[in-house]
Amino acid sequence: MANKIQSIRGMSDLFHQEMESHSWVIDKAREVAVLYGFLEVSTPILERTEVFSRPLGQTSDVVSKETYTFNDRGGDSLTLRPEGTAGIMRSVISNGKFNELPLKFFYSGPMFRYERPQKGRLRQFNQIGIELIGIAEPYSDAEVILCGINFLKSLNVLGSCSLNINTLGDKESRNLYRSSLIDYFQKNHSKMSNISKERLKINPLRILDSKETQDQEIIAQAPSFSSYLNSNSKKHFEKVLKYLEVNNIDYVHNEKLVRGLDYYCHTTFEFVTDKLGSQGTVLGGGRYDGLSETLNGPYLPGVGFAAGVERLVLLSEKNDNTISSIAVIPIEEKNLEDSFKIIERLRSQNIALELLNYGNITKQIRKAINRKIRHIIIIGDEELKTKHVILRDLLKGEQKLVLIENLINEIMNLD
Ligand code: HAM
Repeated sequence: MANKIQSIRGMSDLFHQEMESHSWVIDKAREVAVLYGFLEVSTPILERTEVFSRPLGQTSDVVSKETYTFNDRGGDSLTLRPEGTAGIMRSVISNGKFNELPLKFFYSGPMFRYERPQKGRLRQFNQIGIELIGIAEPYSDAEVILCGINFLKSLNVLGSCSLNINTLGDKESRNLYRSSLIDYFQKNHSKMSNISKERLKINPLRILDSKETQDQEIIAQAPSFSSYLNSNSKKHFEKVLKYLEVNNIDYVHNEKLVRGLDYYCHTTFEFVTDKLGSQGTVLGGGRYDGLSETLNGPYLPGVGFAAGVERLVLLSEKNDNTISSIAVIPIEEKNLEDSFKIIERLRSQNIALELLNYGNITKQIRKAINRKIRHIIIIGDEELKTKHVILRDLLKGEQKLVLIENLINEIMNLD
C-alpha cells in the first residue's frame, strides 16, 4: 500500500469526544466573558505579516522562529496568526472602532506556532481570550484578572493553578531597567548560556525568562525591576494588587515574569499549574498600551488575556462525554419505515436520537453501550402490531413496552 498521508506534526484531528471537551471549555469562557460585558468577535486567521512582527517584536521567539509566514499568489507576505491580540487591535484600527471606547471583546479560535510539539504544546492550538481596549486605569487590569479567575473556577481548575503577577512598568521605567540589566549581564557574560548571550544583544529582559540551568544563579542575583519603577508605574501596580486583595485573591509577585511578547507594559500575569509538566502556563496576559501605535493606530490602552483550550482540557476532569443518550434499533430492514417516522417525530420535539443499524440486535446493543448511550428504543413487527415499541434502560437493565403515542412523554420523564 502507498504511504498513508499523515496530518502535519503538532496539528491534531479532533473527533467527537475532543470536540465536546473543547466546546465545553469555550462555552464556559463565553458565559463568564458575557458576565463581565465582553462580546464575541472573530478576526481572520491570516493577517499581513507586519500585524504580528511589529507589536510582538522581531526578536521575540514567536516572530523570529515560530510563525507560519508565506507569500500569497499576489506576492504579499502573510502570517497565520500565532495569537489573537494583535489581529484584534488591527481590526479596531482598520474599522475605526476607537470612537466606541471602551471595547470589550471575547474570542476563540485556532492559533499557529512552529514550536516543538509535546503534551500541551501544539503547532495548531486553540485559544480563548478577552481584550479590554480603551481604559488605562488599573481597575481594568484587575477586572480582566478577575474574569480569568472566574473562568478557571467555572472549569473547576482554579485550585490547581496559582496566579503569578508582575509589572513591566511604563517605557521610562523599562528603559532604565534595561540599561541596568545590560550592565549586569555584561559583567556575567562568560558564565551565561549561549541563548542568553544572544538575548543580551536584542532583548535583555527575556534573559530573565531563561530556563537554562547555568543562567539560574545569575538571574537570581540580577537587579530587581521594582527598584527601577517610577512613581506612576509603582502606583499603577499597587492599585491593581489592592483591587485583587479586596477580592481576597491570592497571588505571587514574580519579578521574573516578563512574558514572551514585546507589546506588554505595566501588569503581566500568568496562571500556572504543576500538573501539566513543562507546559504549565494555562492562561496568560497583561497590559499593552503601546500596541496600537506599533500598528500606526492612535494611542489605545488595552489589557487582556488568552488561555490554551487544549491545556485546559488536559487539566479539567471533563472526560465523561456522552453522545446522544437515546438510540433507535429497528429489528429488521422492513421496520426502517416505521422507525424513521417515530424518530423524526421525536427529533421535531428536540429529542436527540441516533439510528443504529437493523440486524443482529445483540451487536447493535453492544454498539450502543460502546457509544455511551443509555436508552434504546427497539422497533419490531411484534410490538408494532399493537402500536408499541420497547424502551430499554441499558444502565438499569430494565425494559418496558411503550405505546408509540406516549413515547415523547416517556422520554421526557427519563432520568
Ligand atoms: P501567550 O502566553 O503566548 O499569550 O498564550 C496564551 C496561552 O495560550 C498560553 O498560556 C497557553 O495556555 C496557550 N498556548 C500558547 N502556545 C501554545 C502551544 N504551542 N500549544 C498549546 N497551547 C499554547 C498570548 O497569546 C497573548 N495574546 C495573551 C494576551 C491577550 N495578552 C493580552 N491579551
